[in-house]
Amino acid sequence: MRDFSFLPQFSADELQTAVLQAAGQTRSCLPRFTDQFKYSHSVHNFYEPSENVEWTTGFWTGELNIMYQLTGDTDFLNAAQSQVPSYLNRIKNHIDTDHHDMGFLYTPSCVAAYKLTGNEEAKKAALLAADNLMSRFQPKGQFIQAWGTLGAKDNYRLIIDCLLNIPLLFWAADVTGKSEYRTVAEAHLHTSIRHVLRADNSTYHTYFFDPDTGEPLKGVTFQGYKDDSAWARGQAWGVYGSALAYRYTKSQEAFDVFKKVTGFFLDHLPESIIPYWDFHFTEGSSEPRDSSALAIALCGMLEMAEYADSDFSAYLKDTASRLCRRLWQDCGAKDPAVSNGQLLHGTYARKSPYNPCNNRGVDECSTWGDYFYAECLVRLKQKWEPYW
Ligand code: GLY
Repeated sequence: MRDFSFLPQFSADELQTAVLQAAGQTRSCLPRFTDQFKYSHSVHNFYEPSENVEWTTGFWTGELNIMYQLTGDTDFLNAAQSQVPSYLNRIKNHIDTDHHDMGFLYTPSCVAAYKLTGNEEAKKAALLAADNLMSRFQPKGQFIQAWGTLGAKDNYRLIIDCLLNIPLLFWAADVTGKSEYRTVAEAHLHTSIRHVLRADNSTYHTYFFDPDTGEPLKGVTFQGYKDDSAWARGQAWGVYGSALAYRYTKSQEAFDVFKKVTGFFLDHLPESIIPYWDFHFTEGSSEPRDSSALAIALCGMLEMAEYADSDFSAYLKDTASRLCRRLWQDCGAKDPAVSNGQLLHGTYARKSPYNPCNNRGVDECSTWGDYFYAECLVRLKQKWEPYW
């Protein structure tokens, strides 16, 4: 894999500085964002409050949990725990839950709360979310349908992002002893791997199936530049998703996919390191970056470093650390007067002639970018048991 040893190492002092800056950023948000959530992305680098809606609120609660673990400051833990009833209310009353993003919502918030404190209300909410995710499994095709009315032809597809939702099912299998959660997670994983991975180790964002027969039909992008380009965040979901798949299955298939998608991701980083929003764009492009994609991929590399043999593990840790230093330098928010987020220069969605998106959250913070940046810091700073 590509050698990044030309980048300086993240020294212990620099990492400590980054942690203190990140904790300061989160602390500055406590008064406004304890009883309310953060909207999915910032506007001019500042978040506005939101109800507990969309697929993104769990990342803010998760950021609070990580800051508690990084600092030991119970103000962060108390704020995160105070948000748990909102997640239970949301899943009980089906508030914006007709989609597959149960893992993004319930893992960093409620699974984390349960793992950190044994919070039973959080466990209940996360198990209801797992059941909701199970209800989207399509036996014809063997995948979890991401969006829309179940069975609808125009939405009969999986998306690569779901690799971060299925750890909720592996967790549910472990805590309940019910193997059906694992069976569905493994089926979805296997179908995803078979169809989203392309010959050059890039990935499709979404893949359609025939609702009548379950036959695979075609790869199509939703948020990437075009169908056969590699959306940077999609590729990053593949990196972290395959590492987590390996955590739960120890399968050679998951390990091989991790090596392929991570190799592609690293090979296609521009000289200036922070990826453009799609790998179609290369050094010198005026297109926006997506810093969140790099943060997600680094978490995947640090996860796989826990299981890989010593040489590969050392490479993954060293490379992730050097790249994270660059992420901190170029994109880390260091002053609450400049931003109330953590990670600048992300892109939620970018319009292209070939995708259905409008520009949204372009060159902004996102709750997931902030969360995965914080997760990189905690993984580099200390031994950390994943929420995923
Ligand atoms: N999971 C949606 C996104 O990455 O934008």
